[in-house]
Amino acid sequence: MTIANLTATALAPQTANPTAWDIEAVRAAFPALSLSDDGRPRIYLDAPGGSQVPRRVVEAMTRVLVESCANEGGAFRTSHDSDRILAEAHQAAAAFLGAAADEIVFGLNSTSLLFHFSRMIARDWREGDEIVLTRMDHDGNVGPWLIAAEERGVTVRWLDFDPESFEYRYEALDQLIGPRTRLVACNHASNMFGTINDVARIVAAGKAVGAITMVDAVQSAPHIPLDVKAIGCDLLACSAYKFFGPHAGVLYVRDELRDRLVPLKVRPASMDMPWRLAPGTPAFEQLAGTQAAIEHMAWLGEAFGGTPASQPLRTRIVAGLEAATAYEARLMDRFLAGLADIDGISLFGIASRNRLDARVPTFSFRLKGQTPQAIMAHLAERNIYGWAGDFYAHEASGALGLRESGGVARLGLSHYTSLAEVEATLDALTRLAAAKA
Ligand SMILES: Cc1ncc(COP(=O)(O)O)c(C=O)c1O
Repeated sequence: MTIANLTATALAPQTANPTAWDIEAVRAAFPALSLSDDGRPRIYLDAPGGSQVPRRVVEAMTRVLVESCANEGGAFRTSHDSDRILAEAHQAAAAFLGAAADEIVFGLNSTSLLFHFSRMIARDWREGDEIVLTRMDHDGNVGPWLIAAEERGVTVRWLDFDPESFEYRYEALDQLIGPRTRLVACNHASNMFGTINDVARIVAAGKAVGAITMVDAVQSAPHIPLDVKAIGCDLLACSAYKFFGPHAGVLYVRDELRDRLVPLKVRPASMDMPWRLAPGTPAFEQLAGTQAAIEHMAWLGEAFGGTPASQPLRTRIVAGLEAATAYEARLMDRFLAGLADIDGISLFGIASRNRLDARVPTFSFRLKGQTPQAIMAHLAERNIYGWAGDFYAHEASGALGLRESGGVARLGLSHYTSLAEVEATLDALTRLAAAKA
């Protein structure tokens, strides 16, 4: 069986209508959102670490495990189902990223995909070659390349960020990237600051010298539409468990790069995609769950993006994410205003309410007199879930001197977050700040 190519659909401009957003209808799609503990509802602001999943994801995965639990390639009914799941999940991921189905590789998570690919990509690196990594990225898009560079005697050059603006120092690209640059790996949205970076600019600088370009879209994928062709990258990674799906990683590999990589595969495995680059038995239930998560975004496009079900999957996904972005911007605006009113908060990220399109709704902060861990414990007492630490933003937390001192408190809003939850969280933070003042 070969996986049919799904040509990236040309996108008609979509105008999201935020007033049409029905948060109760969105929340009803997520079974976990109606759970409570001792009568206290759960407030999930932990999405940058992992999101909740809609019912359709649970049902799709259950269906695989109950009704079609088999390996692929057999003559019998359940195996045919697995063949179909494999093909459809690749087509859905391709529609999500604006790619072709045979440019998609599924894996355990983004980090393991990058370890696997870094081994293939670094094979022909030579001593004296250079790679460019960034200090804003999660270590999943740093560590694998650092190890490969060390093994091959390759020099690592770093793209820094400005600690005041929390944006890359783009002006340094000309000095960093040159004829010896073999790889440029950068971050789309920061898991610590929330900054949305101009990855097309970084990719263009890498492409100009023939380097392989890799974009970490793990934190942007749940919030904004992605288009690998517009970005122009060779590789782009995202993780389904951050975009309302199960624990799985998805990697886009541009056809040109895919065809020149010497695959790390076992001998009997097919040279066709996806087997060529995805070793071992596919995780069919994760694939079906990921497809369902993508279909959830398409549903958002149908329900709130003014895009009928008859439109191509990609058109509906983009419309859904645009509608979600518009809704999240309203939440972000309120959250930023509320944080600014709390004495002793310092935010690590873009604070301007005029620049909501420059960030995703991920907020890292400190509160005077409190450790990040104490803040999160205080919120957890109110059943508000969030994170404290450095979240593997190893370079970023190190550059700001935060790594050794508990990191930051981090809260993430999502398209399923309600305004009431935002208010409850601001109220809890205000009380904590007042208690310590
Ligand atoms: C920006 C970013 N990149 C990479 C990763 C690693 O993803 P995974 O857990 O799928 O390996 C994360 C996880 O939090 C992340 O936030």
